[in-house]
Amino acid sequence: MLLDTLIHTLALLATLSGVTHGRHVTTYAHRRHVLRDVIDHPLFSRSPAELHGRADCEPADPANTVTDRLNTLLNSSGPGYTLPLCPGAQYLIQAPIIFFAQDQEISTVGYPTGDDRATLVVAGPVANGQGHTTAVDGTCSSCSGVKLRHVQINGTRRGASPTSGGANIEMGGSNSNQLIEFVRSYDPRSWSCLHIAEGALSCNNVTVQNNDIGPCGSDAFQQWADGISVSCQNSLVRNNMVNNPTDGGIVLFGAPGTLVENNTIWVETMTLLGGINMVDYDPWNGNYTNTIVRNNVIEGGFATDVEAAGDTKGTNEDDAIIKIGIAIGPRTWFGDQYLNNISLSGTVLNNQLSGAFGYGIAISSAQNFTVQGNVLVGNTSFIGSRGPNCSTTDTTPDPAAFVQDQNTVQSSNIQSDVKVISDGDSLTCIMPPDGGDYWPYGGNPSSSQSSPGSSGTPLSTGSPSSSSGGGGLSGGAKAGIAVGVILGVVAIGAITYFIRKGALRRARTAGRY
Ligand SMILES: *[C@@H]1O[C@H](CO)[C@@H](O)[C@H](O)[C@H]1NC(C)=O
Ligand SMILES: *[C@@H]1O[C@H](CO)[C@@H](O)[C@H](O)[C@H]1NC(C)=O
Ligand SMILES: *[C@@H]1O[C@H](CO)[C@@H](O)[C@H](O)[C@H]1NC(C)=O
Ligand SMILES: *[C@@H]1O[C@H](CO)[C@@H](O)[C@H](O)[C@H]1NC(C)=O
Ligand SMILES: *[C@@H]1O[C@H](CO)[C@@H](O)[C@H](O)[C@H]1NC(C)=O
Ligand SMILES: *[C@@H]1O[C@H](CO)[C@@H](O)[C@H](O)[C@H]1NC(C)=O
Ligand SMILES: *[C@@H]1O[C@H](CO)[C@@H](O)[C@H](O)[C@H]1NC(C)=O
Ligand SMILES: *[C@@H]1O[C@H](CO)[C@@H](O)[C@H](O)[C@H]1NC(C)=O
Ligand SMILES: *[C@@H]1O[C@H](CO)[C@@H](O)[C@H](O)[C@H]1NC(C)=O
Repeated sequence: MLLDTLIHTLALLATLSGVTHGRHVTTYAHRRHVLRDVIDHPLFSRSPAELHGRADCEPADPANTVTDRLNTLLNSSGPGYTLPLCPGAQYLIQAPIIFFAQDQEISTVGYPTGDDRATLVVAGPVANGQGHTTAVDGTCSSCSGVKLRHVQINGTRRGASPTSGGANIEMGGSNSNQLIEFVRSYDPRSWSCLHIAEGALSCNNVTVQNNDIGPCGSDAFQQWADGISVSCQNSLVRNNMVNNPTDGGIVLFGAPGTLVENNTIWVETMTLLGGINMVDYDPWNGNYTNTIVRNNVIEGGFATDVEAAGDTKGTNEDDAIIKIGIAIGPRTWFGDQYLNNISLSGTVLNNQLSGAFGYGIAISSAQNFTVQGNVLVGNTSFIGSRGPNCSTTDTTPDPAAFVQDQNTVQSSNIQSDVKVISDGDSLTCIMPPDGGDYWPYGGNPSSSQSSPGSSGTPLSTGSPSSSSGGGGLSGGAKAGIAVGVILGVVAIGAITYFIRKGALRRARTAGRY
């Protein structure tokens, strides 16, 4: 403790002796304050990470004071403060860690990207379906510009039924310009691994990039959870890897102006309702104007048995599929619950689907949508049949790649290979086959050319209807991309994906739970 105090006194002296602080002039000297934007400071050098002692980060122990210590640092250190977490440390938190002022950051010292990221472990009490669910909350009224970077969140649900409350990570609110990157979030106790809330419909420009998300929830009835849930307008959701979500992989609650690109959503052990969802009426009244979903990869499950000569399909040990790869329109999800409301003015371009689905893309109750250039890659299967909860009055369409209920879709520009169906209501009621040789081979890094991704919300009961929104680039900027650029990006993305997926697979093998 004495050494600790000495080190921090020296740090404070160094700070006071005129080291430049970068953009934010810090007026709140604090013993744990790590200088921002200073690369080669003798005490706070950020690289290599191994050289960092524990002295320049807030320790995880003692655990019985850690929640208060972290929150006190945030609520007493002012705007621009970075809360430095220790590489490799596990913080057993009893309540949410709450951003308090503009431009604050929570990150692991040295910005590692793998297992060295500090882990916030959701460890507060739960009883009777209520209790601690959120690790980090960035929705305060002065939380514009806050950043959550290079940390892990372990939601510790561990097979329990869901607890009502916020997502593992709650960001957004009536704020702008937040950043969530290089974060791993998994096993939330509640409905989502990461939620960007709309605030008073004034949330703007949140960036969600390079995160590792999942698993989220369970695929048992109404135990589902989303991967990434975005309600903030003009947001950017890119380069995320979403593995084994169960409700929606990436769910867009309208979120007008949001760009969702180069994400990979894939299932291995659990059935996912929707890969990317554009189905929620609330809270933006179904407004998807300038919301663009492009160049994402969605992988719906592959055969897990050993391929014998001549086999074209095999079994999947968990019977895992994605029921709808990309779901457009409230009716696909909620049937007639939203009456004749629609999803309005969204754009879905050049996404790649591979593996086993009920429906690759399903469109029902939409207006002014553009859906073009979406393709099947590698091997695919479209499987599933009426489940016990399908309405007796609905006609459940046969599984197929791209389906559209033309009766409820108006003024839209839809790719010509879409199959017309007579009834596109409540399609997530289908069930995957119970075993059998129905899953295609492929999906491993050497044979798949897509990266995984997904989104969705549960059948009319799952995600809080209060979440919504999203934002993104201007329509003009988004529309201007050339085909050549897209192909280049996809190629680079595919190569990177193989490398990354190999690494993820190794990591999973090492630490499966
Ligand atoms: C700061 O956080 C501590 C620990 O949770 C709490 O006791 C204190 O009331 C908070 N102060 C403010 C101003 O919110
Ligand atoms: C998450 O935390 C729980 C409870 O401490 C632990 O049992 C589990 O192994 C952790 N998960 C991972 C992937 O480390
Ligand atoms: C949007 O937010 C990101 C992330 O904080 C920031 O880098 C960018 O400058 C913001 N864009 C605008 C136009 O303010
Ligand atoms: C696409 O996302 C992957 C996975 O996060 C990333 O490694 C790759 O760099 C991204 N590609 C582009 C072109 O941004
Ligand atoms: C949809 O959102 C856009 C962008 O915020 C806005 O300009 C437009 O008026 C909205 N349309 C409707 C029908 O609310
Ligand atoms: C149709 O959608 C596009 C893209 O979101 C938007 O720019 C345009 O204003 C919409 N048109 C109408 C009539 O709503
Ligand atoms: C749209 O949905 C809202 C919310 O459920 C409902 O109040 C309204 O009646 C619906 N409007 C139409 C035209 O169906
Ligand atoms: C059908 O719904 C009931 C509740 O209404 C639920 O208990 C059951 O698990 C559901 N079955 C399936 C296969 O989703
Ligand atoms: C498609 O399935 C066949 C077996 O039917 C397999 O040999 C081939 O490698 C698979 N293709 C891809 C891209 O995975």
